[in-house]
Amino acid sequence: MKEVKNICCIGAGYVGGPTMAVIALKNPHIKVNIVDINEQRIADWNDADLDKLPIYEPGLKEVVAETRGRNLFFSTNVDQGIQDADMIFISVNTPTKTYGKGKGQAADLKYIELCARQIARVAKRDKIVVEKSTLPVRTAEALKDILSNSESGFNFEILSNPEFLAEGTAIDDLMAPDRVLIGGDDTPSGQEAKDTLSAIYEAWVPKEQVLQTNVWSSELSKLTANAFLAQRISSINAMSALCEETEADVDEIARAIGMDSRIGPKFLKSSVGFGGSCFQKDVLNLVYIAKSYGLTEVAEYWDQVIQLNDYQKRRFADKIIKKSYNTVNDKKIAFLGWAFKKDTNDTRESAAIYVADHLLDENAQVVVYDPKVPAEQVYADLEYLNTHDPEEIRKRVKIVNDPYEATSEAHAIAVLTEWDEFKEYDWNKIFASTLKPANVFDGRNILDKKALEEIGFNVYNIGK
Ligand code: UDX
Ligand code: UDX
Repeated sequence: MKEVKNICCIGAGYVGGPTMAVIALKNPHIKVNIVDINEQRIADWNDADLDKLPIYEPGLKEVVAETRGRNLFFSTNVDQGIQDADMIFISVNTPTKTYGKGKGQAADLKYIELCARQIARVAKRDKIVVEKSTLPVRTAEALKDILSNSESGFNFEILSNPEFLAEGTAIDDLMAPDRVLIGGDDTPSGQEAKDTLSAIYEAWVPKEQVLQTNVWSSELSKLTANAFLAQRISSINAMSALCEETEADVDEIARAIGMDSRIGPKFLKSSVGFGGSCFQKDVLNLVYIAKSYGLTEVAEYWDQVIQLNDYQKRRFADKIIKKSYNTVNDKKIAFLGWAFKKDTNDTRESAAIYVADHLLDENAQVVVYDPKVPAEQVYADLEYLNTHDPEEIRKRVKIVNDPYEATSEAHAIAVLTEWDEFKEYDWNKIFASTLKPANVFDGRNILDKKALEEIGFNVYNIGK
């Protein structure tokens, strides 16, 4: 086993930031440098005011408060970070390709490759390189190729160490992971590298929960885990549509089937559709990989998970339109929530974006309140779709800092994110200021339906 004194992580995002902060917390003898090309992001990580960290995660600022400046550092000097490190984590983003071959499905590995080339160029000794980003199976091979063809002559061991944390619970997930997965070569130096990385996690994770596999299994396990989780949500969402036709209640069904220990209770919450940076990207990537090996049936099977999710978002928007006498033209629709789930400021692939887009097609006015998402992010998300021009978006979409302002004079109220505070509002006060009939569309089934109906609201749920 090698001794690690210095770790570098390339990419100070939702994955790299929290993961390295916890590694630094639990390994005070290791210096951890997080580097990123984005100057603003690094400045935010270094901000004296811990409420200005670029990522909101419960518990994160406490970990950063303890480690930053002790053995955790944030910098834009990527070369220096690479040179000083014994072990380098690559945690840059791998978005779905928006151009060329594999457009709309394959993962764009441009940034990963750039990192590998940069490591090859500036490294002055042997390194262990760890894939933290979620990558298509066999990416390690490409990394190895780039690194071993560099002129340096140094040895680079490539490991796959996918991250399973979920946003909003990142710190808890990192502190007590179900398992840590480490894939690497079965050669003596590969085994040594796996043991070296295992030791870092074993500073706080029980040894039996640190799994070692070959590198391809590790890469594919991460895609498989996300595909299975996404599939559970699409499965329950498919049942929600059937429930709405049959007077069955999807939450009752989830409870009934979740008590079967073979099925289990988690990830059975029906919703307006899953979002987040991972599920769609990873399932599409799986579809692409299966297709590229000629496995059409496998590809089509997983593609249906995405199609059902798109259907669920569209169905929710259509219901708002239908219950608004088939037109939302110039009507004010209040959105409670924009983030893809509660307790995060992340909006990537949030269902809210697509529901809003669909309503904009019908000329609605959308007023958004989210406790953590800034106005410019909402505009950026809608502009990114390229379906409405920026001027029209700014005319039709307003972002407010007060939920009562959002809902006042609204023709309809839609819950898009399951923020706890929505349950605590003074719904009598909201009822008094909203237009009648007062329609609430609860895309997360979190509000007290009975209480709201007693006040006078019409409440439309998912799967009820
Ligand atoms: C990303 C992917 O979405 C996920 O699939 C993968 O598992 C890990 O990386 P996340 O941390 O959420 O997850 O991404 P993001 O918040 O976009 O952070 C990536 C960071 O890498 C950004 O801050 C970006 O500036 C930085 N980056 C990107 C570099 O420093 N160098 C590059 O060449 C490219
Ligand atoms: C996911 C995986 O859970 C995590 O292991 C992986 O590392 C990254 O991708 P994340 O996207 O952060 O994490 O959040 P997650 O809690 O999985 O939620 C994803 C989406 O599914 C959210 O939009 C959420 O609201 C939705 N969801 C989740 C449901 O609609 N119903 C559920 O029962 C669970």
